[in-house]
Amino acid sequence: MNVKWSEKGAVDFTTSKKRKTMDGILLSESAPFHVREAFKTIRTNLLFTLATTDSKAVVVASAMPNEGKSTTSANLAVALAQTGAQVLLMDCDLRKPSVHRLFKLPMDKGLTSVLCGIDKIEEALHENITPNLDIITAGPISPNPSELLGSTRMSDLLTIVQKAYDYVILDVSPVNIVSDAIIVAKQTAGILLIARQGQSRHDQLRKAIDSCEFAEVNILGMVINESKSASTSYYGYEYSKLDREAKK
Ligand SMILES: Nc1ncnc2c1ncn2[C@@H]1O[C@H](COP(=O)(O)OP(=O)(O)OP(=O)(O)O)[C@@H](O)[C@H]1O
Ligand SMILES: [Mg+2]
Repeated sequence: MNVKWSEKGAVDFTTSKKRKTMDGILLSESAPFHVREAFKTIRTNLLFTLATTDSKAVVVASAMPNEGKSTTSANLAVALAQTGAQVLLMDCDLRKPSVHRLFKLPMDKGLTSVLCGIDKIEEALHENITPNLDIITAGPISPNPSELLGSTRMSDLLTIVQKAYDYVILDVSPVNIVSDAIIVAKQTAGILLIARQGQSRHDQLRKAIDSCEFAEVNILGMVINESKSASTSYYGYEYSKLDREAKK
């Protein structure tokens, strides 16, 4: 059984084997119970993990494209904001941005235009998109994303937003394709690694984990997207603390 999300967050069930998408759908009171519960579990586990870190900024990354980074980062940001914490969601996937699409926001001002010095942060900030949640979209597509993300302006921006918000969630490009995620993650609490059931491969995950360890980037945990639970017939999310011994 697949789960199809409608634009209002309601859910339809179908026996079609064709994969359905969650385009434009965000966590809300009308979202299915199992999805809301799954994000609460991810949130709780993440909050426990962040309790021991100085930084409260989390990079949501995956090894390869299309594994659910943007969907998870958007919904995780909403779930965190629902606790009353002040949350910033920042689209750092400057190659294939999608936060603007999920929240139907303009892209003319965003991270790239702030990092180029064209706009001030306040001009690019979309405030209270849902209660307690602010968003910075990726901005206009730039020819040099890695340089922008590795710039001093980016470090300064990350320092500023980490002071201003309780939590900062960063959507990024895939770890195994470009170095952007690792560049950004080095200045945060670490990476929440997304894998997609039936799609992510063990060797790809291993490569992503090795890249994190080589760069001394903390892996905060792992989310299995579209996991099929044994106890229910729903596709959902599962969070696990990464067992570092298991990969040896
Ligand atoms: N649990 C899920 N159930 C159904 N569809 C999903 C689920 N998670 C993600 N999707 C869909 O899969 C597609 C890819 O998801 P998403 O854009 O979040 O992945 P991504 O890792 O950010 O991709 P990219 O690497 O291209 O940035 C989207 O169409 C999204 O709506
Ligand atoms: Mg994405």
